[in-house]
Amino acid sequence: MKKDQINALLAPSSIAIIGASATPGKIGYTVIKNLLDSKYSGNIYPVNPKDDEIQGLKNYKTLAEIPGEVEAAVIVVPAKFVSDVIDECGKKGIKGLIIITSGFSEVGDKALELEIVSKAHSYGMRILGPNIVGTLTNSTKLNASFAPYLPLPGKASLITQSGALLIAIDAISYTRGVGFEKLISIGNMSDVDFADLITWLDDDPNTSCISLYVEGFKDGRRFIEAVQKTNKPVIALKSGVSAHGAAAAASHTGSLAGSGKVYDAAFMQAGALRASDLNNLFDRTLALSLQPTMKGDNMLVLTNGGGVGVLATDAAEKYGVPLKFAPEDVQVELKKHMPDFGSAKNPVDMTGMAGTDWYYKTTLFSYGHKWVDGLVVLYCETAQTNPEEIAKSIRKAVDESGVKGKPITVSFVGGERSDKAMRWLVEQGVPAYNAPDLAVNAMAALREFHLLREMVGHKPRGTNLLDDKIARTIIAKARKEGRGALTEIESKQVFEAYGLPTAKTILSTTEEEAVSQAKKIGFPVVMKIVSPDILHKSDAGGVKVNIKDEAGVREAYNTILANALKYKATANIHGIAIQEMAPWGTETIIGSVNDATFGPTVMFGLGGIFVEVLKDVTFRVAPISESQAVKMLGEIRGAPILAGARGEAPRDRKALADVLSKYAAMIHELGDEIAETDANPVLVYEEGKGLKVVDARIILKTK
Ligand code: ACO
Repeated sequence: MKKDQINALLAPSSIAIIGASATPGKIGYTVIKNLLDSKYSGNIYPVNPKDDEIQGLKNYKTLAEIPGEVEAAVIVVPAKFVSDVIDECGKKGIKGLIIITSGFSEVGDKALELEIVSKAHSYGMRILGPNIVGTLTNSTKLNASFAPYLPLPGKASLITQSGALLIAIDAISYTRGVGFEKLISIGNMSDVDFADLITWLDDDPNTSCISLYVEGFKDGRRFIEAVQKTNKPVIALKSGVSAHGAAAAASHTGSLAGSGKVYDAAFMQAGALRASDLNNLFDRTLALSLQPTMKGDNMLVLTNGGGVGVLATDAAEKYGVPLKFAPEDVQVELKKHMPDFGSAKNPVDMTGMAGTDWYYKTTLFSYGHKWVDGLVVLYCETAQTNPEEIAKSIRKAVDESGVKGKPITVSFVGGERSDKAMRWLVEQGVPAYNAPDLAVNAMAALREFHLLREMVGHKPRGTNLLDDKIARTIIAKARKEGRGALTEIESKQVFEAYGLPTAKTILSTTEEEAVSQAKKIGFPVVMKIVSPDILHKSDAGGVKVNIKDEAGVREAYNTILANALKYKATANIHGIAIQEMAPWGTETIIGSVNDATFGPTVMFGLGGIFVEVLKDVTFRVAPISESQAVKMLGEIRGAPILAGARGEAPRDRKALADVLSKYAAMIHELGDEIAETDANPVLVYEEGKGLKVVDARIILKTK
């Protein structure tokens, strides 16, 4: 049923255009013209109250007059009429509404948008839009839009939140030679969203790769799930990645969670590739729509020019697939097809003497060799070679190798003849670029996508063995007392309930209690004020460390109390916490936010100056697998410190990854209650010695 509805939007067998116009220049005119020009084979029904005929087609004064069934309607009447038109569509039994009209939530009229969605749903219809250019499909020759023509045919389908960009991409497809099966404008996403379309495109035999231009999601988790279930590559260009929302954050983590970082994490967890800019979106779309993924790390570069070879080597390192020397047997064979002064190491430099035959033989051998996981062929235009002949020899070698499932990308650096040869290669299914770094970037994308998909298969850690009852009781008590945050002791109790190791901490409400508890914990101890009104304890003079004996406890007890009352005379003081003085280790921070788009999201970074000044942190949407946690530890710039920099023993990264995944499971399970958390610092010890959460903070969601 759901699929049928999306079918009606993307592959309708008949279309009514409501607001069809006989006046050139009007969008209602252009849509009819486009449907006719693109040679759409389904029935086209113009609907306009005045005319008898529009552009040679019979016009219907009302939708009801159309004989028989109509599957989809393109709506191009002004916004104020759309709601009534939806009633007419519902009564006619239309399944899909392509609403081009602007003037809804994008101009602040959310109510009108909600009204049309609920009305459409009441008739069992789905909406694409409103505020869109329309939708274009090459295989069915459907241009139900006001973009001028169908894009260059190809195997990629693109969904864009910007209508203007769709029109631009439509035109660029011809100049760049990157073909598309579908261009879909998604506009305000009032109803049908990225997830719906990705799921539909995954089953579309004419689509081999899905490209996205994303401004933002309404429901980020739906997107992640849809992409995770997709077998086809998804490549996203995300705009608007500057930080927002940080000002309102109550925790340290909250202030670091700019939407850009959470989106980065979400795309990675979904298994979606990123494009760095519009050109890169085209480059990567070309590679992913034409080539299989790169299954291993070994990329071999063939070239006739040392310069482009070095550029490729630099790019390989930059994009995460550094070149390795080819094995001896590969070098020996390749040496046969180059002069003595060539190099068979990798890049394989056949020198400027390389002609068609050498290109053919080295490509045939390298593409067929099991060590090579991905082949990049570079060519600089020379006086004695013909680019078209070189292109043909590469294609021939690939065909004759009989190898399937291995990627190849090509770069021809030259003038018009090279451009022509590359256009031919692309038509033959070989992605070709006019610069070596682009061919390498494309190969890196094929590798990255493979690795991303492997990671998606790893199951996130759950909390099935853990008990949330303790946590929920503590939270309920705080809420009953009208508090928006847990105290440090309560926060630690919640952490402990989820199996997170915290520095032992006990509340004392009298000086005598403080003394006996300090003795129980063992000297030295740390003493801290516990008050829901004092979140920044050190600023209030509410923390004393390294207290070595009973006299010290007594003195600290009274000083801390006096300081706290001086800081805030009306503060509600629960008491003073006595905490074990954890041995110093590498300072890290774990925290979380409840992101508006993605929900509970976990953060990790090195503590102290690394987090304060360098903001060296990384995020994941919770829950996460342990392998994602391990990946997080390696992602921060300070990763070498955890690995044991400057002669220090490596830190206990195994324990850290374990705790990080448990933490993510905790904030996911308590996502309905918790807004933000900080475990800061988390002291990490040498391998095998674990870690300890020294300070904890949990801020509750406002309900
Ligand atoms: N049923 C059938 N036809 C109707 C109805 C109805 N209930 N009501 C009006 N019409 C007819 C009108 O008579 C008119 O036909 P005519 O040209 O023969 O007179 C036609 O529908 C269109 O109505 P107009 O009032 O002339 O509206 P106009 O064409 O000027 O604008 C439009 C309508 C295009 C939907 C406009 O309101 C709009 O939203 N424009 C922006 C669309 C847009 O840019 N969307 C994409 C955003 S993405 C990007 O930026 C590229």
